Amino acid sequence: MSDSENTLSAQSGGAQPREQWSSRLAFILAATGSAVGLGNIWKFPYITGENGGGAFVLIYLLCIATIGIPIMMAEIMLGRRGRQDPISTMKHLARESGHSRSWGLLGWMGVIAGFLILSYYSVIAGWALSYVPRMASGIFTGLDADGVNTVFSDLVGSAESLLAWHTIFMIMTMTVVARGVRGGLEKAVTYLMPLLFILLVILVFYAMESGHFEQGLSYLFTPDFSKISTKGVLTAMGHAFFTLSLGMGAIMVYGSYLPEKTSIATASIAVAVMDTIVALLAGMIIFPIVFANALEPAAGPGLIFKTLPLAFGQMPYGDLFGTLFFVLLVFAAWTSSISLIEPAVTWGMKTFKYSRIKMSVISGLLVWFAGLFTIFSFNLASDFTISTSITTHYGEFVILKDATAFDFLDYLTSNIMLPLGGLMIAIFAGWLMKKEYSKQELALSPFWYGTWSFLGRFIAPVMGIIVFMNAMGIIAFFESILGIKLDAFFRSLF
Ligand code: PHE
Repeated sequence: MSDSENTLSAQSGGAQPREQWSSRLAFILAATGSAVGLGNIWKFPYITGENGGGAFVLIYLLCIATIGIPIMMAEIMLGRRGRQDPISTMKHLARESGHSRSWGLLGWMGVIAGFLILSYYSVIAGWALSYVPRMASGIFTGLDADGVNTVFSDLVGSAESLLAWHTIFMIMTMTVVARGVRGGLEKAVTYLMPLLFILLVILVFYAMESGHFEQGLSYLFTPDFSKISTKGVLTAMGHAFFTLSLGMGAIMVYGSYLPEKTSIATASIAVAVMDTIVALLAGMIIFPIVFANALEPAAGPGLIFKTLPLAFGQMPYGDLFGTLFFVLLVFAAWTSSISLIEPAVTWGMKTFKYSRIKMSVISGLLVWFAGLFTIFSFNLASDFTISTSITTHYGEFVILKDATAFDFLDYLTSNIMLPLGGLMIAIFAGWLMKKEYSKQELALSPFWYGTWSFLGRFIAPVMGIIVFMNAMGIIAFFESILGIKLDAFFRSLF
């Protein structure tokens, strides 16, 4: 098979037939490239640590199965049927089923969410990038936990360093986007995803040697519901959207290149399973190291940067493995960040008739600029925090407490925009799109179509609404009026 056959080629907007992924595998790899990223290796472990472990993981897995997979199927389906950028696709599909073109707003929200996520995603990817030369130089060899901590705090404390690495990562991302998401990317994904996987497995073996493997496993897999809070449940739901790249049009754009015959259900399940395996492997590596070195599981966003170098510093050939690990992490982040900006670029090309290169430069510069907020939130402006709460005569309900710009962006996108986008996608696909269309696109047996339809029409929207309402402080408000505590309710369920 030639290269051009084996990759995605056309990036055309409009209604003319577009070229397609040559195989199901090409799509699965690209979608996995989008899904597997910092969300799995950086975010999943630290939010698991902040939310007490096993119970959080269990809820997260349930969310992937019951809302993640059905919404992913819905999003791919809409993309394939619309075959355009998310905004035009939503307008077109709404019209096709006799609904308002305002559904284009959903595409809009996705474009903005992708933009905001990339602005901080790139800064964190910059951290990973900066650890490549650090690892290679061997500075972690034999370093103790305090030493490793200092390396991390020196990095995030320096606005100049963060700016430099963020700039390099944005240039990397926009270079691929400007050249079109073809050839190079899929080839890279074909080799690097399996390599990342193998390396993670090697590291799990290392974690087994740490002497605290069982403790790590039991932390991850033994649910202790006394540790879970409403916040934990909602973080788990929000993360299901983030980690599967749902609710903002990335998967919709990738779906728009999917050939007619490919089974959307099989592809979605494959992507979700791989994404979940990577996250769980990351957890199985990190927590044994955390316990072996008496570190704090709830260390927050710095968790992997404080734990992994410590382990690499003590293992044979640690510099080599460590360098390789951060290189692969950067690649995983790279393939995700490309999909974060792709909806905006395809939309801009069509709307302003700009070339792909011009649109990439413009959007790259805007995201780069927006990234400054996140950068400064770790150093110069770390005292600049936002707290929001609603005060009624029942008391004060805190929504955000001392949130920095980074916390705020993460909250706004993961807890509000992606769940809201996913919710609307589920409502559109489950309730508004004509059934004959969804039946034709999904081509499932009546039983599986019924299951998808139930999850997509009822469960996903209800969960989406709960996450959204909670994030907006509405749930706390009702809790107080009704005199109930949802924390207690969730615990009583198990
Ligand atoms: N899924 C990616 C990750 O886990 C992040 C992402 C979110 C990518 C939304 C695209 C869209 O790192």
